Amino acid sequence: MSSRFISSALAVVLLLIATDAARAEDSKEKAASASEEDGKHFDADGNPTFKIENGVVDWYTFNGYRRYHADCHVCHGPDGEGSSYAPALAKTMINLDYGTFLSIVAEGRKSVVGGKEVVMPAFGENKNVYCYLDDIYIYLRARAVGAAPRGRPPKKADKPEAATAYEASCMGG
Ligand code: HEC
Repeated sequence: MSSRFISSALAVVLLLIATDAARAEDSKEKAASASEEDGKHFDADGNPTFKIENGVVDWYTFNGYRRYHADCHVCHGPDGEGSSYAPALAKTMINLDYGTFLSIVAEGRKSVVGGKEVVMPAFGENKNVYCYLDDIYIYLRARAVGAAPRGRPPKKADKPEAATAYEASCMGG
C-alpha cells in the first residue's frame, strides 16, 4: 500500500469525522426549543423537542427515558446505544425526521442483515408505546444530539397537567 493511498484514506476518515461533528452541531441547533406549550417544547419547525437546563430535563424527556427503557431497550440497547441486533438510535436518530420516526415505530420494519432477518416490531396497536411516542422521540433526540447523557436523568420538571390529561384520554380511548 502506498503512503499516498494511506494519507488520502486518512483524509477521507478525517473528513467523515468532521462531517459527522458538523451534522451533530447542526442537529443540535435545529433541536433547540423555539416554543413551549404546557411544559412541552417544540423546535422552529413545530416538531417536539427537549429542554434541558442546568441538568434538569423537561418532563417529556424524562418520561421518554422511562418508556424507551420499558419497550425499546431490549433490542436497541440501554440509552439508545444499540446492540448487535438493532441500530443505535442515540446515533441514527440524527438522520430521522419526526414523521419517519412515527411511521417506522407504528408500522415496524424488516430487513435481512448478513443473511439473517431482523425485525422491528410494529407498535401501532400498543398503547404503552403509541401514547408516549412523542416522549420517546424527544428523549432519543436529546440523546442523538448529545444533550442528554447516558443513564436516568437525575433531575426533572414536574409532570404537566396537560400530560396527565393526554395520558388519560389516550390510554382510556
Ligand atoms: C424486537 C426488537 C426491537 C424492539 C423491541 C424495538 N426495535 Fe426498533 N428496530 C429493530 C430492528 C432490528 C431495526 C432495524 C430494522 C431494519 O433496518 O429494517 C429497528 C429499527 C428502528 C428504527 C429505525 C432506525 C434506523 O436507524 O433506521 C427506529 C426509529 C426504531 N427501531 C425505533 C424503536 C422504538 C422507539 C422502539 C420501542 C418503542 C423499538 N424500536 C423497539 C428492533 C427492535
